[in-house]
Amino acid sequence: MLLTREEMSFEFNNAKLDPGTDRELLQWMFNQFLYGEMTGIQVGHWLYEAPDLEAAKFLARQSLEEMQHVDNFLRIMSMLGCEASPAHPVIRFLATGMMGSSWAEHVALEMAAGEGFVLMAFYAVIDTLDHQPSVDILKRAVKQEERHVEFGEQQTMKAIAGKHWLRRRLLGLSLVSMWAVKRLARFMQKRLPQDHPVLKYIPEFLALTNQCAETRMMRMGLLDRPLAEMSRLKKALLVTEAYAGKFLSGLASFVALPLKLLPFWPKKKRLTDIYLDDPHVRDFPHARPDVPASNAK
Ligand SMILES: [Fe+2]
Ligand SMILES: [Fe+2]
Repeated sequence: MLLTREEMSFEFNNAKLDPGTDRELLQWMFNQFLYGEMTGIQVGHWLYEAPDLEAAKFLARQSLEEMQHVDNFLRIMSMLGCEASPAHPVIRFLATGMMGSSWAEHVALEMAAGEGFVLMAFYAVIDTLDHQPSVDILKRAVKQEERHVEFGEQQTMKAIAGKHWLRRRLLGLSLVSMWAVKRLARFMQKRLPQDHPVLKYIPEFLALTNQCAETRMMRMGLLDRPLAEMSRLKKALLVTEAYAGKFLSGLASFVALPLKLLPFWPKKKRLTDIYLDDPHVRDFPHARPDVPASNAK
């Protein structure tokens, strides 16, 4: 990876998430991760788009790893006594609705940036969750996530080599997600309980994720100078250019969009829509929760 574990780690000053008193929060958090891993089915789409055999082999293996991660989270949730429930609509939209429309967008935005963001969240849980068996499972899974991020970085560098227009487009699209994270941090600043030992750090943690995203963009060659040295106008132009290009290249599917919105247009239900009813998730063997319910809030 182009960033080290140290660079991607936030200093929580030994603050801990308690499996008993923080169960509600952990249940919410692990359900977002569970959904994220379920979107691993999208790897199938990209396997079909793979530019070479090496990439195809990587993706075939990745799809298997993401499905194993689904079981990892089911196991952790079962140990902590957390129920599987729907992910937040915003998470569903970000992970499914914003699927990249080209190979370059997939590797740059979803793998290098997106999985990079998730990896930082995994590191944060490893560093704060006061439940060793869950932490051990996560420690094994992050090794694989690190390889996914690294693949995204390498493929992004390959994709933009000699293609200035593509570099600008990916940069413009990345600026939008970074802006969204900044807004989210500001929104949370006022709403998070200041007396919670871990939650009070979330806005600062989100700021670090943006800082790391910027460093990664510099190291991949998407950015040639720190964002602070770029004017607002230049950033706005990059974003406009990126979306104009995306709009034009997606014009055909855009034209078909009104048809798809008609009530009779059949919408295929994918696993990401129905996984909570899947027998594997529904009947996942529930280990006796390590933490008695009486400890929970
Ligand atoms: Fe994963
Ligand atoms: Fe992954």
